[in-house]
Amino acid sequence: MSANSARITGDNKTFETSVKLGSVGPSVIDISKLYAEIGMFTYDPGYTSTASCESKITYIDGDVGVLLYRGYPIEQLAEHGDFLETCYLLLYGELPTPAQKADFDYRITRHTVVHEQMARFYQGFRRDAHPMSVMVACVGALSAFYHDSTDISDPQQRMIASMRMIAKMPTLAAMAYKYTVGQPFIYPKNELDYTSNFLRMCYAVPCEEYKVNPVLARALDRIFILHADHEQNASTSTVRLAGSSGANPFACIAAGIACLWGPAHGGANEAALKMLAEIGTVDRIPQYIARAKDKNDPFRLMGFGHRVYKNYDPRAKIMQRTTHEVLAELGIKDDPLLDVAIELERIALHDDYFIEKKLYPNIDFYSGITLKAMGFPTSMFTVLFAVARTVGWIAQWKEMIEDPSQRIGRPRQLYTGATERDYVPLSRR
Ligand code: CMC
Repeated sequence: MSANSARITGDNKTFETSVKLGSVGPSVIDISKLYAEIGMFTYDPGYTSTASCESKITYIDGDVGVLLYRGYPIEQLAEHGDFLETCYLLLYGELPTPAQKADFDYRITRHTVVHEQMARFYQGFRRDAHPMSVMVACVGALSAFYHDSTDISDPQQRMIASMRMIAKMPTLAAMAYKYTVGQPFIYPKNELDYTSNFLRMCYAVPCEEYKVNPVLARALDRIFILHADHEQNASTSTVRLAGSSGANPFACIAAGIACLWGPAHGGANEAALKMLAEIGTVDRIPQYIARAKDKNDPFRLMGFGHRVYKNYDPRAKIMQRTTHEVLAELGIKDDPLLDVAIELERIALHDDYFIEKKLYPNIDFYSGITLKAMGFPTSMFTVLFAVARTVGWIAQWKEMIEDPSQRIGRPRQLYTGATERDYVPLSRR
């Protein structure tokens, strides 16, 4: 057997296949012909050992805590670039030249307005609706407004749909927020950069001028960069699976938003903040640590642990610094939630249970505190995550559509239900 081949034996049958090598990271055993050759499937609930696709976009080494977008370390992008530069990089594969960047910024900015009829969708919701429910509906509804960019076989339409998604998400998200607080929607202002525009659409009111705080705008822009993509996570895989059937990109992103909402995924920042508030004071931390360790208690420390990172999440380190910058800018010195967060982190990092299971704070642990300090209600946290992740979803969707080996996604199963039996009429049951 050569170094690049593999053999799987089961049921006295042997399957010989090749090993595919990535540019970095684990190789994969190609099992695409396994069923055809030996009549068996592989079994991997939660896809812990299964690569669902080939991708050139994002690389994570969870053991050492590395995250690269198109080869560039997240720390460098967050330190030196802005969010739209990251969007360009994820979409096109290379960093833009100054002229390309200016052109891209211009084109995104010119797509920020949403069709006026979209406002009617918001009016149909209760004011206390969770903004993620509004986002699932309104993003899906975009496909009813932009028919000229839903032909996925046309590369130009695919790119226009991608631009529209990136440009319109902040507008839709800000509208969801404004609707909740009962204030009028604020139209985008093209002279502002992407993130400042978003802050203004959230916090401006028609009766007075709104001045964007550059420190907060930079912090939020960095949060967007940190959340922009994360390879084949649950929501991205959802977008790819939805897109594999040929569904239009707006519908696919709506599916991604629905998946992101869950507390084990994008909903974790909201859940982490609620947990910090529930703990309340530093002296109550030990009882929550004890609960997290108790096998009979479903409680988990929200904002800790990650499927891929078995080391410190590199995004969490940047996020921690950003949190301190924002709190200093806003003059928040003694935030009880921050005290609880810092102490919780300290205890967990020294506790045998968390060390043994490699449970480190993840990005959501700190992002919630930062967003709260900026004035966002907890219900908006996951919406902000969705705004940032849209570029990752759309870049992954485009990559999939443009991959010649792309087929409809169709996992198989291990059936353990009843074997064939005859129908019994209702009167005889
Ligand atoms: N608190 C206490 N114990 C935990 C935690 C936690 N937060 N996370 C995992 N464990 C334990 C778990 O009980 C299990 O123990 P045992 O081996 O004794 O059964 C072990 O660690 C492995 O956990 P797992 O559930 O098999 O790990 P997973 O890879 O399936 O889950 C996770 C990853 C992120 C869903 C999980 O760590 C979790 O629920 N964390 C809290 C929610 C959270 O912060 N999610 C945000 C993820 S980062 C943002 C994103 O990418 O969307």
